[in-house]
Amino acid sequence: MDSAGSMVSSSDGPDAPSVEGILAGKRILVTGVLTPKSIAYSIAEACQRHGAEVVLTSFGRAMSLTQRSAKRMSPAPDVLEMDATNVEQARAVAVAVRERWGGLDGVVHAIGFAPEDCLGGHFLEAPWESVATAMHVSAFSLKTLAAEFVPLMPPTGGALVALTFDATVAWPLYDWMGPTKAALEAVGRYLARDLGRRHVRVNTVSAGPLETMAAKSIPGFSTLKDAWVGQAPLGWNAADAGPVADTTVFLLSEMARGISGEVIHVDGGYHSQGAPLLDHRGEQEEQ
Ligand SMILES: NC(=O)c1ccc[n+]([C@@H]2O[C@H](COP(=O)([O-])OP(=O)(O)OC[C@H]3O[C@@H](n4cnc5c(N)ncnc54)[C@H](O)[C@@H]3O)[C@@H](O)[C@H]2O)c1
Repeated sequence: MDSAGSMVSSSDGPDAPSVEGILAGKRILVTGVLTPKSIAYSIAEACQRHGAEVVLTSFGRAMSLTQRSAKRMSPAPDVLEMDATNVEQARAVAVAVRERWGGLDGVVHAIGFAPEDCLGGHFLEAPWESVATAMHVSAFSLKTLAAEFVPLMPPTGGALVALTFDATVAWPLYDWMGPTKAALEAVGRYLARDLGRRHVRVNTVSAGPLETMAAKSIPGFSTLKDAWVGQAPLGWNAADAGPVADTTVFLLSEMARGISGEVIHVDGGYHSQGAPLLDHRGEQEEQ
């Protein structure tokens, strides 16, 4: 039994182990695991903890890092190669998943990238070629995953979940990653429109700042992180992707069967406040 109270049990004896948990029997493909700090790593672990079988994807030189991270998980999932901008690779992964499992129930999109000249306060100078790369990798890729993997989902449906950073406002230095996230959220809504009739749900999780490799490439990330602590009513721990992982598990599960086209904030409540919090603790102490 795990801390969440949902886990593997083998009460039927060694020949017939039964798996319990809100993702019991689900087959989930998780993209974007690079290091154990990756948000996708916490998601993949949480999926396993809640009863799912998991495969990971990675690409190019990142493959060996992902394989090393996978070995820390139990059981260690296989890592298949898929550059999200390469349709042939996505198609080959779909074939491999069909051979392995016969189908698929969920896909996690945890992929983001922008060339250096798209970030850091040079919004007006960024060339289209760089912006196009950022859009292709970070937003269009959700359509690619949907097109290649939804056909593997059973007639009862499935779920896609993508990770975003609140694209309803502009952020300092985030620059063209902002429009790519706005595009990603919109792609999610259009996919929800077209895949609903197949009972496939498409949602995005809008995470607060988390200390990952991708975050290191965002200039001014630590300023953003500090601002979060001062404005999120629930507080925020940038070293803990657990809350984002748990919400993703929920969205992949039947518990979320009525939710699609949604952007769910897992940010300690930051987005709901118009300004930094007053220090209520201090005021109460004075009374
Ligand atoms: N870290 C944060 O503060 C934060 C906040 C909100 C949303 N997000 C989003 O979460 C997602 C995961 O990022 P992370 O913060 O865990 O960082 P990360 O660096 O651990 O993960 C980013 C992943 O994108 C993958 N990737 C990049 N280009 C790719 C391509 N062409 N094909 C396939 N994969 C590719 C990388 O291999 C890596 O695994 C991203 O979409 C990111 O924008 C991050």
